[in-house]
Amino acid sequence: MNLKELEHELLKCEKCKLRHDAIAPVGWFGNPESPIVFVGEGPGGVEDEYGCPLIGPSGQLLDKALWAAKMTRDRVLTTNVIKCRPKGNRTPDLAEADFCARQWLDRELDILQPKVIVALGGVAMHYLGNPDMRITRDRGQWFKTKQGFDCIATFHPAYLLRLTGKSQVAAKWDVFHDLQAARDLAAERMPEYNFMADEKTNLFKIFRKRS
Ligand code: URA
Repeated sequence: MNLKELEHELLKCEKCKLRHDAIAPVGWFGNPESPIVFVGEGPGGVEDEYGCPLIGPSGQLLDKALWAAKMTRDRVLTTNVIKCRPKGNRTPDLAEADFCARQWLDRELDILQPKVIVALGGVAMHYLGNPDMRITRDRGQWFKTKQGFDCIATFHPAYLLRLTGKSQVAAKWDVFHDLQAARDLAAERMPEYNFMADEKTNLFKIFRKRS
């Protein structure tokens, strides 16, 4: 099965109750050839509306951080652990994340075979690594996912948006260094790959509101 076929199947998914409160599942965006894949938590309200991962406030901050680390959204691939927005934007629990990711994220990664994965925040880190990991302690450290991919976790952009003052500045630098480390390893493994277009990707030009 290729990624297009998987997306077709995903859009028909009715396998859990999260689907009932969402407009539709949200898949992935970017270049399937990318050696680097970013895994977020799950769609929020704006993502649900537009059908694109990380297009809302968190995504806008991620795009700035990617630009600083010499990457653009169209040249990497972004996706999420869970595909349907939980009601009220609550954090999905471990069982929900596990159930969804086993049917979708695992299969995406199986097709994509990324050289490097970046887990954005605790939910992605717990699924790709293990539930005993702690983002404040374990971010910035390489680990192997159960599928054998090299993964580094960093702070979720929504967490950065909640911080203020010096702690926000420090956490943003941490994210910048994690993204650089991820890009460096991906570039080492695929030296010919171009991670950055001339301009930032305007996702709102690509995606329209769905209903
Ligand atoms: N947060 C995520 O982790 N993913 C999204 O797609 C949006 C917000």
